Amino acid sequence: MKWLEVNSYDEMSKVAADIFTKQLQVKPASILGLATGGSPVGMYKELVKRQQAGNISFSDVISFNLDEYVGLDQSSPASYWTFMHENLFNHVDIKEENIHLPNGKAEDLDAECAAYDARIKGAEGIDLQLLGIGVNGHIGFNEPGTSFDTMTNIVELTESTRTENAIYFDNSKDVPTHAITMGIQSIMKAKEIVLIAFGEKKLEAMEKLKSGIITEDFPASQLLNHPNVTIIYGGTK
Ligand code: F6R
Repeated sequence: MKWLEVNSYDEMSKVAADIFTKQLQVKPASILGLATGGSPVGMYKELVKRQQAGNISFSDVISFNLDEYVGLDQSSPASYWTFMHENLFNHVDIKEENIHLPNGKAEDLDAECAAYDARIKGAEGIDLQLLGIGVNGHIGFNEPGTSFDTMTNIVELTESTRTENAIYFDNSKDVPTHAITMGIQSIMKAKEIVLIAFGEKKLEAMEKLKSGIITEDFPASQLLNHPNVTIIYGGTK
C-alpha cells in the first residue's frame, strides 16, 4: 500500500487526477471504477479540465460506479446517476452507453446485482478503481461487519451513513434506507485502486488503516491485502 500525504484538498485532487490521466494515456479504453461523494468532486473537475485541454479523452472509456441508492429514479437530484452526470459525464466525451451505475429501481434487485457483476466481468474487470472512505471505514456502501466475500449486493445503510449523506437531500427523512453496492470482493478484483480522503474527520479512519489490522469491522482494511493500492490523504487535527 502506497501512502501519499497531501496538504490540501486541491493537491489531493490533482495527485489523484494525475494517476487517472496516466491510466487514460497508457490505455485509452480503460475500464474505470468511479465513486461519488465530496472526496472526488475536485478530481472530476481536474479531469474535465484536462479532457477539455485535449490531454485525455474518455471516448473509449467504460465506467462502472460503485453504488446507487435503492428506490431513487435516475433523474432524482440526489441519485448517484445525477451526481456523476453533473460532476463528470456531462462535461467529458464519454459515451452514454459506456456508463454503468447499478439500477436501484430494478424490479428484481438480486438479479440486478448479479447482472452488474457480470457486466464488469464482461468488460474484463476494472483497471483503476477510485474509492472514498466513510468515517466508519466503509468503502462503497460496505458497512462495518460486511463479509469480505461479498460481490455486488443490497445493503441497509447505517444511521451514521444516512446522517453523513443527508446533505444531498432536502429532508433527512428522504435518505433511502438501502443501497446497491459493489461488494468488497468486487472492489478487490480491480487491478489498481486509489483511495482519497481529506480532512480532520477522516483522520481516525486513516490511523486505523495504517495500524495494519485487517478486520471486517473496518471494511477498508481489506485493501491491505490488495497488491496495488495508493492512499492519497491529508488534513489536520
Ligand atoms: C460513494 C461511496 C462512499 C463514499 C464515502 C465517502 O460512491 O461509495 O463509500 O466514497 O462515503 O464519502 P465522501 O467523499 O462524501 O466523504
